[in-house]
Amino acid sequence: MSNICVIGTGYVGLVTGTCFADLGNNVRCLDIDPERINKLNQNIMPIYEPGLEQLVSQNVKAGRLTFTMDYQEALKDAVIAFIAVGTPSGMEGEADLKYVRSVAESIADIVDQPIIIVNKSTVPVGTGDWVADVVTKRRAGKPLDFCVVSNPEFLREGSAINDFMMPDRVVLGSVDRSAAERVSQLYATLRCPILITDLRTAEMIKYASNAFLATKISFINEMSNICEELGADVTQVARGMGLDKRIGSEFLDAGLGWGGSCFPKDVKALAHMAVLHGTHPQLLQAVMDINRNQRRRVVLRLRKELGSLNDKVIGVLGLSFKPNTDDIRESPALDVIHLLQNEGAQVKAYDPQSMELVANSEKQLKLCENPYLVAEGADALILATMWNEFKQLDFEKIKASMKQPVIVDGRNLWDPDALSKMGFTYYGVGRGVKVNGE
Ligand SMILES: NC(=O)c1ccc[n+]([C@@H]2O[C@H](COP(=O)([O-])OP(=O)(O)OC[C@H]3O[C@@H](n4cnc5c(N)ncnc54)[C@H](O)[C@@H]3O)[C@@H](O)[C@H]2O)c1
Repeated sequence: MSNICVIGTGYVGLVTGTCFADLGNNVRCLDIDPERINKLNQNIMPIYEPGLEQLVSQNVKAGRLTFTMDYQEALKDAVIAFIAVGTPSGMEGEADLKYVRSVAESIADIVDQPIIIVNKSTVPVGTGDWVADVVTKRRAGKPLDFCVVSNPEFLREGSAINDFMMPDRVVLGSVDRSAAERVSQLYATLRCPILITDLRTAEMIKYASNAFLATKISFINEMSNICEELGADVTQVARGMGLDKRIGSEFLDAGLGWGGSCFPKDVKALAHMAVLHGTHPQLLQAVMDINRNQRRRVVLRLRKELGSLNDKVIGVLGLSFKPNTDDIRESPALDVIHLLQNEGAQVKAYDPQSMELVANSEKQLKLCENPYLVAEGADALILATMWNEFKQLDFEKIKASMKQPVIVDGRNLWDPDALSKMGFTYYGVGRGVKVNGE
């Protein structure tokens, strides 16, 4: 059992803190957002993540998990402090470290006991050394017994608790191996491979992993564009490829491309680091270009089918960047919606979890209470996010209410033959029907 402080109580911090509490540790979760902490203290989750509410409630009741805005209280007696604040993209694509700096300075100002500072935020290579420098300079004249460990997080929103409790691996990097080993004890009962490296290598593993997964998706999307021109079906191509153990089937689904709070900013930040250090990240640039283009292809498809999109009514199913989360950061659905709105289309949409968030930022978007209201009077219906509840829709009802029965299945979810037989004009992604030409 350890006294742990988790700083930043967002998707990563809240899941990390709750899971460590569930493993028997005393965890204090800290955030500077009063609304977030007030909600958590009333057992209201500030984010949607399956299973989280129950796990938080159990551990709060057991007295192992608390939420606070008070740094003094949060860091009192802590032997390990996790930094889990955001690292958004800066102006040039670099990771903006202002929140990490602020946390490092607060730790330096408040802590007197020996402490291990663990970076869980995704940070540029070299940040661990920089954090150590920030703390040391801030403490000038009054040295602190501390060490920095990098512990990149690999959880996925939507399956975050499972990912945390059953990780493929835990990566720990430090200049001080004993500090990394101390942190590794927190994970010992999870019985997964634990890789201990130096600081920079651990930081790089996170970026390389995300860049590789984004590359895999962009690869299959490029294949899907070629499939469309050549009359092949990319879903079968992906299956045929994915059964090869060297390739694997995950992250091999053609669609509208990747989004979310991690891949876009992390690929950009890695490319930025590469350029800054004199290398040419050509592959990463292509991966980002292909991803942007997947959104544009939907608009091209609709233009070809419907002519001008001005004043056309387009329905969109799904707004979160992927299913089982309410996170709309860099959502492909929203990118497509903005492109359609730029062409003068009236867009309406539905999402099971993220409508409250979207309502705040998307004033021109008409939000509907269910998929059927989205389809009503629409000239086309786009599937943007593959939520389970979109798998078995009443397509007779949908067809009867649409102005034109045109479907763009942006996630290759539905059966093209069945929908075509029902009288829909069906387009998937990379399923043999050309965007350009006939
Ligand atoms: N979301 C993911 O799926 C995921 C997965 C792996 C890694 N990561 C990385 O983890 C980090 C956090 O991501 P997230 O999605 O949890 O972010 P988030 O935006 O959901 O949460 C960050 C939280 O930090 C708080 N914060 C900011 N400054 C603070 C300060 N000085 N003191 C205390 N709290 C402060 C914010 O109020 C916010 O609640 C990022 O670097 C991200 O790249 C995210």
